[in-house]
Amino acid sequence: MTGETELPGETKGRAFEIVVDGRRIPATEGQSIGAALLAADIRALRVTRFDGRPRGLFCGIGMCFDCLVIVNDRPPQRACLLPASPGDVVTTADRPENGATS
Ligand code: FES
Repeated sequence: MTGETELPGETKGRAFEIVVDGRRIPATEGQSIGAALLAADIRALRVTRFDGRPRGLFCGIGMCFDCLVIVNDRPPQRACLLPASPGDVVTTADRPENGATS
């Protein structure tokens, strides 16, 4: 799935880009990093420790921790709760070389 869904009465914030694993994707003011990733069809954000199975946005409300990503070299954070900011550099952990964790 790509693109955006417009909600009734929704106002769009300022558009900018963030960088995810070296790829520039669009984001808007007020949008979470998780929502920007989902809109860009980036679903696998990390893998499980033992089986290497992909994980991504699940609850979307900060409860499951399946959406951990590294943003601006800070320790892993929940993408669903973190507002996107212009120039953010996001690293997913869906590959072992990116520090895959469960
Ligand atoms: S999707 Fe569950 S904590 Fe982010």
